[in-house]
Amino acid sequence: MDIKNIGVILAGGRGERFCNNVPKQFVKLNGRHVIDYVLDIFIASDCFDKIVVVIPSFDYKYIFDNYKDIDLVIGGNTRNYTVANAINYIKQNFPSCKNVIFHDSARPFINKKILIDHLSLLNQYDSVITTKKITDSLGSITQSQIPREDYFLIQTPESFKFEVLNKHFNPEDNSKTAIVQHLPLNDKVYKYFIEEYNLKITYLQDLFIGESLIKFSPFVKHNFNLKDKNVFVFGGTGGIGKALISKLESQNFYVFPIKKSDLDLSRVDFKDWERLFSDNFPDVIINVTGKYYNDSDGILEHYKDIMDVNLKANISLLDYLLKFDNKNKKINVVLISSSSASKGRENLTVYSASKVALQSIVESLSDKLSKKNIFVNIISPEKINTPLISKLHGKNFIAEELLTVDEVVDAILNYTDCNNFGEIIKIRKGFIKN
Ligand code: CTP
Ligand code: MG
Repeated sequence: MDIKNIGVILAGGRGERFCNNVPKQFVKLNGRHVIDYVLDIFIASDCFDKIVVVIPSFDYKYIFDNYKDIDLVIGGNTRNYTVANAINYIKQNFPSCKNVIFHDSARPFINKKILIDHLSLLNQYDSVITTKKITDSLGSITQSQIPREDYFLIQTPESFKFEVLNKHFNPEDNSKTAIVQHLPLNDKVYKYFIEEYNLKITYLQDLFIGESLIKFSPFVKHNFNLKDKNVFVFGGTGGIGKALISKLESQNFYVFPIKKSDLDLSRVDFKDWERLFSDNFPDVIINVTGKYYNDSDGILEHYKDIMDVNLKANISLLDYLLKFDNKNKKINVVLISSSSASKGRENLTVYSASKVALQSIVESLSDKLSKKNIFVNIISPEKINTPLISKLHGKNFIAEELLTVDEVVDAILNYTDCNNFGEIIKIRKGFIKN
């Protein structure tokens, strides 16, 4: 096969500013190497006939043991020499190469669309660079006013017609940090502006920003159709549950509102779930039950009450589903957390802790469940305008910031028919972009 499109991942740096023995691209970000995120997207994009990774030394070869068909090349002392080594490797091994896309291994938030767009733009341009508008002020000591609009940030991916790059690239020129700066000034360079946060891990703190970004799942609108599906709703007596059930019933869906007298979540076990789901297959399971006590009612006194309902009942449900013979029929599970999981809330100590733990069990089990066609997600709303609001938060809220019950109901329903899983969807006022 002719190798035409090559993806090069630059992983030859040692990360001086990151100050760690292990180069930043090989440290773990939410349990995986930073570079794994890049490799996954490179592979999934289907853009490349060949992927080349440039590494500092073969000591790091083991990181790539699980990837097939990836070529490893040793980098240079500067980023420019790393790029030069990749160019030489391509020249020697893949003379048929037409297009090459370079990406920093330290930028794990690349997505498929950017790669696909770059590759297709190379049909018309010599080079496509990823650019970003400057949002801070731009300054100079010698010039009083610098027009910010004339400048932009250059990130990666940077993409090139291989022939053009090969002709102009000079690794000895250290004044150039972006690869594109080696090309003569002309209009054959396409500036591909992005708004996404294409974080480059540079300092140690960036790793923690990255961890938060990976956990952030934006609210996505799904087309859901619950016709002929059995929808089980737990917690139908509260504000959200009630509204949810009446919305579903008004659209004539099959709703099974499960009351405490049907099944007591504070002491539910395997057999109870078996009994409940033996007659009707659960296509959708929504649990909005939430037990809370204010700290003033006693913190430890109600620990068990809260944890049994908010946490253990959900663990019991997911454990049951792991063993449930669903014959690979799809099931969607939507659970409900709270923004108090991001920051433990004063006066709701155990409640907040139960929600953090609930999110954690979704992260731990949802992968395994997805392999059985069971998709679990969790909605994490900010404070909601329910009759309970002052009981939960005293006067500690700003009315305009409160979500309406309807908004939260809509968010929950949006995840009743999707193939996403393990997502913690943070809902804030104004979360739906029109
Ligand atoms: N890079 C490379 N070869 C080098 C230097 C950098 O392949 N000799 C790669 C890095 O691995 C990184 C990307 O280029 O993915 C962006 O460079 P940078 O953020 O500067 O990484 P480092 O050079 O490793 O970090 P530092 O400048 O702090 O030493
Ligand atoms: Mg560097």
